[in-house]
Amino acid sequence: MTVYFIGAGPGDPELITVKGQRLIRQCPVIIYAGSLVPAAVLEGHQAETVINSAELHLEQIIAAMHQAHQQGLDVARVHSGDPSLYGAIGEQIRHLQALGIDYQIIPGVTATAASAALLGCELTLPQVAQTVILTRYGDSSPMPPGEQLGDLARHSSTLAIHLGVKHLSRIVDELLPHYGAHCPVAVVHRATWPDQDWVRGTLGNIVERVAAKDFRRTALILVGHVLGDTPFAESALYRAGHAHLYRPGN
Ligand SMILES: C[S@@+](CC[C@H](N)C(=O)[O-])C[C@H]1O[C@@H](n2cnc3c(N)ncnc32)[C@H](O)[C@@H]1O
Repeated sequence: MTVYFIGAGPGDPELITVKGQRLIRQCPVIIYAGSLVPAAVLEGHQAETVINSAELHLEQIIAAMHQAHQQGLDVARVHSGDPSLYGAIGEQIRHLQALGIDYQIIPGVTATAASAALLGCELTLPQVAQTVILTRYGDSSPMPPGEQLGDLARHSSTLAIHLGVKHLSRIVDELLPHYGAHCPVAVVHRATWPDQDWVRGTLGNIVERVAAKDFRRTALILVGHVLGDTPFAESALYRAGHAHLYRPGN
């Protein structure tokens, strides 16, 4: 018996992996994060037990997994995006390990990847930014020392800020001294869902633009010069004259 932590992707049911979909269709027990995982992701399942974890607390989720374990039933534990990011799987894994229950993680498409796809852009442009920091706004869970936005902003890398749209004006205040008012920002709301929407702007004007859209939750804030028209170099990978293993004579 195994608990499979499955990444459902950002919303579009076609953005789950083939493996994740197969496991959802095979597992007799499904526990899914109903606040962010659309029901369509579960289509074709044969499970006798389907539980929406949005209505449960941790001990109740673990009790459901424990019961399935005692009955020898595999569990599909379905999380939004990729389970390794803000999925709260660490605490579930800790309980499973204590109970001697096997688990596996099936990765998923992140909100960050889906948002970049929607915006039609690369988050790592040569000589502009080669680092993407995936972070969150510390509200209910405070940030560890050294991970305040001001600390991260010192790198001038691309930022993907989760769980922060309600605090956008505070986020802007913390980033302005580092990135400047002209730094491009995009806020993507419910990427890949039927009602997806987004707005582009700068640190100087994004607060009013987002207020006009009334995005309140499930939005990703992307910040960085890769979102603008900063000139960038071509990568070495495809540069004529740059020889490598697969193009030895260039
Ligand atoms: C609990 S985190 C889950 C992140 C997810 N595990 C991932 O890999 O993307 C939820 C936050 O991720 C972002 N998010 C999740 N799905 C999104 C989507 N479809 N569009 C935009 N942002 C999304 C929002 O910031 C939301 O508040």
